[in-house]
Amino acid sequence: MNSDLETKIKAAMANPQNLGEMPDADAIGTVGNSDCGEMLRMWVKYKEENGRKVIDKATFQSFGCETAIAVASLATELIRGKTADEALALKPEQLSGELGPLPPMKIHCAELVQGALRSTLAPERCEENKATSTPAAAQQVPSLMDKMGSGERSVGGKKITFIN
Ligand code: FES
Repeated sequence: MNSDLETKIKAAMANPQNLGEMPDADAIGTVGNSDCGEMLRMWVKYKEENGRKVIDKATFQSFGCETAIAVASLATELIRGKTADEALALKPEQLSGELGPLPPMKIHCAELVQGALRSTLAPERCEENKATSTPAAAQQVPSLMDKMGSGERSVGGKKITFIN
């Protein structure tokens, strides 16, 4: 990883945006990458704006690498004010935005964020996540914190648990 990218990721990690659960979310989705073991859960709240249903706020919780957390932080800001379809049209390189191009070994980190968006915004297209895509289902789903257990640390005043 080049030092410019590392610096940008460190900056995003120092002040991650939209980190944490959203109890009143309209939709929730979870994805995992079986290769690296990373998991990402996303919550979305919609609002009506000029006759359109747009994303009012999105938050995330991650047991992932710093790149996935940095991309999720940027992406949850980027999708604010967009419709679900507009957000779903964003490609991984657009989601990673200001981080710039990711090296090949880190592209799947942005794809994990794209997968979480898909799971949250279009659960009907994501068969494996149907069970956790509604607020009612979200109430019954253990949080990532519950699921993953110990090893927590604090970043930007929010708890993150890393699995490695
Ligand atoms: Fe797998 Fe980043 S290393 S999500």
